[in-house]
Amino acid sequence: MSKKIALFTTEIVTYLKETGKVSFSAPSNIALVKYWGKHGVQLPQNASLSFTLSNCKTLTSISYSKKKETTADFDFQFLFEGNPKPSFEPKINTFFERIYEYCPFLKDFSFVIDSQNTFPHSSGIASSASGMAAMAQCLVAIEKALGSTLSEEQLTQKASFLARLGSGSACRSLEGPVTVWGAHESIEGSSDQYAVKVPFEIHETFQNYQDTVLLVDKGEKQVSSTVGHNLMHGHPFANERFQQANDNLKELTEVMQAGNMERFIHIVESEALTLHAMMMTSSPYFILMKPETLEVINHIWEFRREHNIPVCFTLDAGANVHILYPESVKEPVLSFIDKKLARYCQNKQYICDVVGTGIQQL
Ligand code: PMV
Repeated sequence: MSKKIALFTTEIVTYLKETGKVSFSAPSNIALVKYWGKHGVQLPQNASLSFTLSNCKTLTSISYSKKKETTADFDFQFLFEGNPKPSFEPKINTFFERIYEYCPFLKDFSFVIDSQNTFPHSSGIASSASGMAAMAQCLVAIEKALGSTLSEEQLTQKASFLARLGSGSACRSLEGPVTVWGAHESIEGSSDQYAVKVPFEIHETFQNYQDTVLLVDKGEKQVSSTVGHNLMHGHPFANERFQQANDNLKELTEVMQAGNMERFIHIVESEALTLHAMMMTSSPYFILMKPETLEVINHIWEFRREHNIPVCFTLDAGANVHILYPESVKEPVLSFIDKKLARYCQNKQYICDVVGTGIQQL
């Protein structure tokens, strides 16, 4: 265990409270440099960088009360939008088992976890990043209320660290507007264990950046990201890909400080297509894009060429398209989306989001 990780382990001798409740929201995030491939316990093969979003978020409350006696099991109930959702409990149990060594109070208390998302059910938008980030932040807030010995800075890092153990990319959702996960020479303080806010001023062009998510396919993914990550073991292009991601991250940080839109678009779109190229060249190979995904991409390229408007796309591990553009061109881009792209979305649905700052206490 490294020194940093040991730092996150606190033994609270006397709890300052026996009951209480904490509530936080956490947003989703969209990677510009992708994490695809992991090792050990949720450790990334390369550094990744993302925009933290605002509107697509999970709101979570956790009530806690001290057990009369400590038991060997975790005692919690999970409610989704106010109703019990036992189907989700095994996932939380696995998460608790994984983080127990860092949160020993988990077996001394009973919990009621109440969660809801701001985005529609089964929209194809993964709720794991926002959900795990909100839950991790609530647990850290409980630890603080109980008498944690960690500093504020360590608690912030710990929330991201715990979120990572729940779902890798979730660790990038605690802070914003831009975070990096994975040790990287050009990001001071970066770590494989948790994400950090980028330590520089972002050019004004990239502030309030818009992300319109086209819901091309709302169904369940055919291949989960867990399976996809694992297929990077022994992948013929793995090492080149991890090196490329680290190089792209270095250049992107320079580009985002300088406001170089042309290179920004090039790196972001190349990252999205490379992610899907990795899927198509895995063994077994698979394709998560749909015909509509390609239609949308071609329309974006045509629109950008014809109107000279700096709009680009990225993809996560699915068919949906994230359209990224500066706030200054919001009007023409939204009109283009409405007229030309909405037809490729299921039920013509898309979600307008914007870059944000991370968790909020409710
Ligand atoms: O956090 P996971 O295991 O769901 O993986 C996320 C992978 C991508 O969304 C495709 C890329 C990323 O960096 O978010």
